[in-house]
Amino acid sequence: MNTIDEMDALFSRAGLPPDISFLLEKHPRAVWRQSGGLSAMGRFWLKRHNFFRELGSALNASVENLRDEAFDPVTFVQWFSPRLELLLGELEGHHHIEDMHYFPIFLAEEPRLKRGFDILDSDHHHIHDLLERNASAGRQFAGALVAGGDRMRFAADSYAVEADRLVSGLMRHLEDEEDLIVPLLIERHEDGRSLM
Ligand SMILES: [Fe+2]
Ligand SMILES: [Fe+2]
Repeated sequence: MNTIDEMDALFSRAGLPPDISFLLEKHPRAVWRQSGGLSAMGRFWLKRHNFFRELGSALNASVENLRDEAFDPVTFVQWFSPRLELLLGELEGHHHIEDMHYFPIFLAEEPRLKRGFDILDSDHHHIHDLLERNASAGRQFAGALVAGGDRMRFAADSYAVEADRLVSGLMRHLEDEEDLIVPLLIERHEDGRSLM
C-alpha cells in the first residue's frame, strides 16, 4: 500500500477490517464498561482519547462561531492559541508512548493483530503530518485575527479546512485504536493478566 492509499484509508475506512475484528466480536463496545477488564491505567488511556475528541471538537466549533462573528477576535485568539498548542503537544506525546511502549507489548501478546498495529502506526504518521499542517495554519490564523477583515476570513477558512481534516482523521483513528486494543485488554484480564 502506498502513502496516498494509506492516507485515504484513514479517511475512508469505516472501522477495523473484518480479519482483525475477532476480539472485538467477542468483546463488543456494549460490554466494555461492565467487563471490569480495564485497569486504572486503561481507563485513564480512554479518558485521554475523550479529552482529544472534546478539545478537537471544541476548537472546530469555536472557529465556526468566530466566522459567525460571535466572538471578539482578540479575545478569541487568547482562548484559541494555547488550546491548539495543548492539543498538538499532548497528541504528539500520546502517540510517542503508544509507539514506543504499548504497541510492542500488545503486538507481542497477540501477533494475529499485526495488521491492526501497522494501520495504527501508519495513522500516527499521517496524523503527525496533519498536526504540522494544523500548527502552521493555526499560527497564520491567529496572526490574521489581529488584522481582521478579509485577511482574517481567508485565514479562518483555510484553518477550518485543516482542522476538519485533523479532527475527522483523529476520530477515526481513536475509535479503531480502541476497538483493536480494549478487547485484547479484556481478553487478557479474563486470564488474570493486565497488559496496561
Ligand atoms: Fe494512537
Ligand atoms: Fe491513543
